[in-house]
Amino acid sequence: MTGSGFEGQIIGFYGAKHPSLFEIERRCMDRDGLVIQYLDRELPEGFVLDVGAGNGFTAIRLCSSSRTVVALEPDRGMVDEAVPLIWARGVAQDIPFHDNTFHAAYATWAFFFDGVSDIDKGLAELNRVVKNDGKIIIVDNAGDDEFSALAGKSTGSDPRWWRNRGFEATVIQTSYRFDSLEEASRLLGFYFGDAVAHRNSRTEIEYKVAVYSTKVRKR
Ligand SMILES: C[S@@+](CC[C@H](N)C(=O)[O-])C[C@H]1O[C@@H](n2cnc3c(N)ncnc32)[C@H](O)[C@@H]1O
Repeated sequence: MTGSGFEGQIIGFYGAKHPSLFEIERRCMDRDGLVIQYLDRELPEGFVLDVGAGNGFTAIRLCSSSRTVVALEPDRGMVDEAVPLIWARGVAQDIPFHDNTFHAAYATWAFFFDGVSDIDKGLAELNRVVKNDGKIIIVDNAGDDEFSALAGKSTGSDPRWWRNRGFEATVIQTSYRFDSLEEASRLLGFYFGDAVAHRNSRTEIEYKVAVYSTKVRKR
């Protein structure tokens, strides 16, 4: 992204360019909030880092009187200053916090995709900024669902890749639930092309989410 200060380090994302489509995605994907409920159960109290926080949709829902979530996001266009979070600018590969600052860190569909070349740099950074015994949780597509079938190819992450790095894998069964077929067509057309959007006749589409968790071990 030109002028961001993080050239060559950011994975391009459409959200800032097409905010109305991102609004549909965030509202309709996992409408029942099963992923957020899972994170809320698994994350500790204290200071938690959200890496690639986008507009803060997830981070703000995980804040409580006993948990402060810090939102790290490199793209100025994604940050929503109206969301009352502690915002920080930066990338997963070079996290702008001291060693052992956080009780946990997580990323939801951001940077930690198992094909990304400097992902191990990002994982090393998470291990550095999270305290000993703290949790790291990565959320991505699981694939093998109706959503992937529409894509015509696997959109899933590889659980073996994560297990080899000491993560445990869990799958959350959820869906995209749209308010109308027109809304479904807009987002699916953008993701997968007009032909897929025209073929689709459903407002609810099965979607499986993979959650990879591990504990930081420093000694
Ligand atoms: C698919 S969006 C997900 C946003 C948010 N986590 C959510 O669940 O709504 C991916 C986000 O990752 C950010 N991102 C891209 N490259 C990154 C990097 N190297 N480090 C941290 N975040 C990055 C993008 O700017 C974008 O906001």
